[in-house]
Amino acid sequence: MNFSLTEEHKMIQQAARDFAQNELLPGVIERDEKQIFPAEQVKKMGELGFMGMMVDPKYGGSGLDTISYVLAMEEISKVDASASVVMSVNNSLVCWGLQTYGSEEQKQEWLPKLASGEIHGAFCLSEPEAGSDATSQKTTAIDMGDYYLVNGTKNWITNGNTASFYIVIAQTDIAKKSKGINALIMTKDMPGFAVGPKEQKMGIRGSDTHSLMFTDVKVPKANRIGEEGFGFKFAMKTLAGGRIGIASQALGIASGAYELALKYSKERKAFGTEICNHQAIAFKLADMAVSIEAARYLCLKAAWDKDNHHNYDVSGAMAKLYASQVAMDTAVEAVQIHGGNGYVKEYHVERLMRDAKITQIYEGTSEIQKIVISRAVLAD
Ligand code: CAA
Ligand code: FAD
Repeated sequence: MNFSLTEEHKMIQQAARDFAQNELLPGVIERDEKQIFPAEQVKKMGELGFMGMMVDPKYGGSGLDTISYVLAMEEISKVDASASVVMSVNNSLVCWGLQTYGSEEQKQEWLPKLASGEIHGAFCLSEPEAGSDATSQKTTAIDMGDYYLVNGTKNWITNGNTASFYIVIAQTDIAKKSKGINALIMTKDMPGFAVGPKEQKMGIRGSDTHSLMFTDVKVPKANRIGEEGFGFKFAMKTLAGGRIGIASQALGIASGAYELALKYSKERKAFGTEICNHQAIAFKLADMAVSIEAARYLCLKAAWDKDNHHNYDVSGAMAKLYASQVAMDTAVEAVQIHGGNGYVKEYHVERLMRDAKITQIYEGTSEIQKIVISRAVLAD
């Protein structure tokens, strides 16, 4: 067993760290406050190869492994989880799904633009009445011969308005249940495609979240990803990798909050000494360090499973379940260590605390991860 990173991994980690410090940190408070999408920063992430990290170079991607992706996600999420969710959706839910299951024409048409950051994508599964219960799709894609007629509503879609490429999951044959679902490529210029108002959110406020409404949208059959009826499996397989991305986002939020708390505890004095010298604070830091290290190993193990073609449904779910809890706990304690300053925006930890919460909700809530894990455990 080898726990050391390669030189290439270290370079990617450093490049992501530098990018986060130099390009994301300035303005992160204002973007959060005013819900400003980090458009320029996302473009630069594309130029640096962070938007299509695992995409084959023949389609304009970086051709890197999932370990590299975890390392970069952690560094970027330490500073700006709004930017990292754009990166995560584009890399794991959009590019990976398209590269793995799309047709050659679909890949050639879309991957170079998506991987370079020229455009970015959205993944549209959730609906007002189908979130955790994702097989209960109400959006319909009726087979009309050479096209599907799509009607319905998608909820809480990340990159909902800023995206130029949408993967939409919809029900074609209700009698076939999950086997009657399709994944379709859609674009905003299709007549009948409408974007709802921007959601006003607690955290990841720089990300762009909208509902989408489809009224009699004609989607050519050529836009279907995979075989007829493959849409639900496509969504599940894609989400299995997506959960590694969100676990790494949670890891980054946790390690960002920890680093700030550690630094602050060595500077702030109370009762005649730096607060880190009070055991109650030192023990909080010790607990944070242990849980972050454990979360990091779970993320890297899931990434390693994926890179080595092992099943990663369960290791990815474990990483997400654990890392998101660590993000929440660490961010809350980081605010506590900062005292009154922890409640003030300029110290960053209050934002990290608000951002942490979403990691327990999207790409499958913590309860859903426990369903995935417990089913596997019980099947053993
Ligand atoms: N790989 C391949 N196939 C899978 C699979 C996987 N990981 N998981 C399930 N399937 C298949 C099953 O085998 C089954 O097919 P068969 O009938 O052929 O056996 C079919 O899919 C239906 O599966 P289940 O019977 O297990 O379905 P279920 O109704 O019990 O639901 C669930 C399973 C795991 C709870 C699933 O509904 C789920 O993951 N829900 C959460 C949805 C979610 O994560 N949404 C995230 C939206 S994207 C997002 O959030 C992005 C963002 O924020 C940035
Ligand atoms: P519900 O399914 O209604 O769940 C409510 C509560 O009940 C949760 O605590 C849940 O864990 C629990 N629960 C439900 N079923 C069970 C069960 N069987 N056992 C135990 N507990 C259960 N979706 C997309 O498709 N694409 C996106 O890009 C996207 N981005 C998002 C961005 C943001 C900011 C947010 C808030 C959401 C996003 N989502 C996206 C949607 C997200 O994936 C769903 O909100 C999530 O899957 C939960 O679904 P729900 O909100 O309908 O909750």
